[in-house]
Amino acid sequence: MKPALKIAVAGLGTVGAGTLQLLARQAELLATRAGRRIVVAAVSARDRRRDRGVDLSAARWYEDAAAMAADPEIDVVVELIGGAEGVALNVIDSALKHKKHVVTANKALMAEHGTRLAAEAEKAGVALAFEAAVAGGIPVIKTLRESLAGNRLARVYGILNGTSNFILTTMRETGREFAEVLAEAQKLGYAEADPSFDIDGVDAAHKLAILASVAFGRPVDLGGVYAEGIRHISRLDIDFAEELGYRIKLLGIARLTDHGLEQRVHPCMVPRETPIAAVEGVFNAVVAEGDFVGRVVLEGRGAGAFPTASSVAADLVDIASGRYVPAFGVPAASLNALPGAAMERHQGAYYIRLMVVDQPGVIADVAAALRDEHVSMESVIQRGRAPGEAVPVVLTTHVTVEAAMQRAIERITALGSVLEPPRMIRIEDF
Ligand code: HSE
Repeated sequence: MKPALKIAVAGLGTVGAGTLQLLARQAELLATRAGRRIVVAAVSARDRRRDRGVDLSAARWYEDAAAMAADPEIDVVVELIGGAEGVALNVIDSALKHKKHVVTANKALMAEHGTRLAAEAEKAGVALAFEAAVAGGIPVIKTLRESLAGNRLARVYGILNGTSNFILTTMRETGREFAEVLAEAQKLGYAEADPSFDIDGVDAAHKLAILASVAFGRPVDLGGVYAEGIRHISRLDIDFAEELGYRIKLLGIARLTDHGLEQRVHPCMVPRETPIAAVEGVFNAVVAEGDFVGRVVLEGRGAGAFPTASSVAADLVDIASGRYVPAFGVPAASLNALPGAAMERHQGAYYIRLMVVDQPGVIADVAAALRDEHVSMESVIQRGRAPGEAVPVVLTTHVTVEAAMQRAIERITALGSVLEPPRMIRIEDF
């Protein structure tokens, strides 16, 4: 057997502890698969005394994780600290400078610095592996980058944030409103430290930017991702979605259009019979559409200690076996800076929900605003009868341009009979 692969783990929180446990419990299996043992030779974490469920007495402890990354005995640095900057970035920079392979679960960091780090890893002749950074335990990076290499992909999309999916699923199943279900998600420990990352689409945007880069062989362009979260989704919209045959999901979508690559994260109405509509609770899913393979759907746990550890372990086995490719599938110099398509040019169908005064002529005014912006209506639902009071009116449109839809919404908002800002949700055709 070849000499052991010596790894250093920076960050022993939930994912770090899960990874150590997997490496200990599966040591024999991994050694057989990799053709050599994978040994935790060093660790670095804030709290030395916490019980991580494994014996760490043989590992060297470092206070300074960046110094650990420079340790000449170490072959691979596993960064599980998190955060786009600071210690996590220092550790990875130090590891690459000292020509050590890097495994990371850090989506924010890969979304912000992935292109530069990929080029540096390539220069150093080492791997930069990040399967755990997107969709936890789902092997999506390897699938897009290697297993689908024979295809041109037209579109990649998915449920990339388990917390938002849990909130939307629970709202639908229990009839509760957003704020109450968010509080429950936080109690259950699903939400990121800053819940805004989950519910405002930031976490999903990080993951989408990485996926788009892998899928389309372009530099990571986080700034080019349009992101909108789920705060404005109400129980009423969830009920109307059901009635119209849709389910509301927060999706990340990367798609080639005539104007360039579209990258967007926002709530979507998806037809109830599509595979993505059936992905519920904290589960994630990624769908890729290739010209030869057709549609590929991957579903699984997108977070949590063991699922994420499963992806870290897969990267380690690849490195131990000498199997690794450029981080984004092609050499850094060949990444193709496809232009990004502006959101205003997006074309799709829309769901609009208004609260209007129940009086004659209201629908005519709304229809006139749509007509003036050349937006074609597909259906209108008005429920209830409450003369002089607020009633919901729901419109769906045929495919139209985002900029026209936004202008029409501005006009509708300005109407005296429209009592609240209209709610708009894009309808996806899968
Ligand atoms: N907060 C993330 C989620 C965890 O809810 O999916 C994994 O990135």
